[in-house]
Amino acid sequence: MLLVSEPILGAEEKAALVAVIDSGWVTMGDRVEEFEQAFARLHQAEESVAVSSCTAALHLILYALGIGPGDEVLVPSLTFVATANSVRYVGARPVFVDIESPKVPLISLDEAEARCTARTKAVIIVHFGGYLAQRDAWQSFARRRNLLLIEDAAHAPGLPAAGTIGEAAAFSFYGNKNMTTAEGGAIIAHSRSLRETIRRARSHGMTSNTRQRLDSRSSDYDVTMLGFNYRMDELRAAVGLAQLKRLPEWNDIRRRLSLQYRRLIARLCPSVTVPFADPWPSAHHLMPVLLPTAISRQAIVDELRKRGVQTTVHYPPVHRLTFYKNLCPEFHLLRTEEFSRRELTLPLHPRMTPETVEFVVNSLAAALGAELSMEATA
Ligand SMILES: Cc1ncc(COP(=O)(O)O)c(C=O)c1O
Repeated sequence: MLLVSEPILGAEEKAALVAVIDSGWVTMGDRVEEFEQAFARLHQAEESVAVSSCTAALHLILYALGIGPGDEVLVPSLTFVATANSVRYVGARPVFVDIESPKVPLISLDEAEARCTARTKAVIIVHFGGYLAQRDAWQSFARRRNLLLIEDAAHAPGLPAAGTIGEAAAFSFYGNKNMTTAEGGAIIAHSRSLRETIRRARSHGMTSNTRQRLDSRSSDYDVTMLGFNYRMDELRAAVGLAQLKRLPEWNDIRRRLSLQYRRLIARLCPSVTVPFADPWPSAHHLMPVLLPTAISRQAIVDELRKRGVQTTVHYPPVHRLTFYKNLCPEFHLLRTEEFSRRELTLPLHPRMTPETVEFVVNSLAAALGAELSMEATA
């Protein structure tokens, strides 16, 4: 089965894990620091903070920015549930915002403007599929409305511009992302004081960590705030360091495969819409397409599966998930709902070749052809 995404893990990651085990130190230490510096360099930032997941990263950012009960945070509904959950973790209310259009399935600025109230404190923009949200427009919106701008950059590790737009950005290294530490995440935050709060909150609000206490031979520490255990460990950091070295090359393969997908789909599946214009600054995390309205998506999914091609859907709208429907039933986001009904995510990862892309598009064309002739005879 050709999977939608697949990690590349090999000899280098194995050797890195062995080295950590042999070192006798597995919890947060020098390798985590080294990983933080290497990740920051890739994103042209002074520093980054490594954490246990992107979900933890989003929670820490909102917490450190002081967002809490009574506040509202604008979020897209076309995202993974973690974006909205992080808002609930700090006791604030997520306000779901529609996408711009089927061609630009990013949180709509006009809609965001319309949903602002006196309680709105922040907006989380998601670089959906790795496609960068428009920097200038969002920065001027945030300035004009006096809002904190946060980037959910789960899909955009290795895209240098991701992490340069908002106060802070959260990245994911989950197993299906552009690079992986199995579970893991990182934060880029621009103000030093915000970074310091985030670092402290990452580890129970403590003034020193185990490694620092060992190195300084002092067992003293204080706790100055309510914190969490959102640390990364040395095993994950070692894998991350190996992955980071190849991330730019992998993202470039993704870019070339995406371009080939676009060309072939335009030729062989003209009824299918491919979101985003080309070129667009992107880490090319996903290959989303929109099927024609009249087609049964399930029939296409089944036919592609029969031919050995896995597909998924990004995303079921968060405001339609039972938990959020019960919490805030008032949201009706027509463009998001329509996009989500028609969306299909095709395989895209750097293990793929031009031949596998061709195979997927040919399979999609055949599946669409079969479905359209069924429709015609029905
Ligand atoms: C847009 C988005 N935000 C946040 C997350 C959460 O990432 P993690 O699994 O690292 O917590 C994901 C994970 O898939 C995601 O796609």
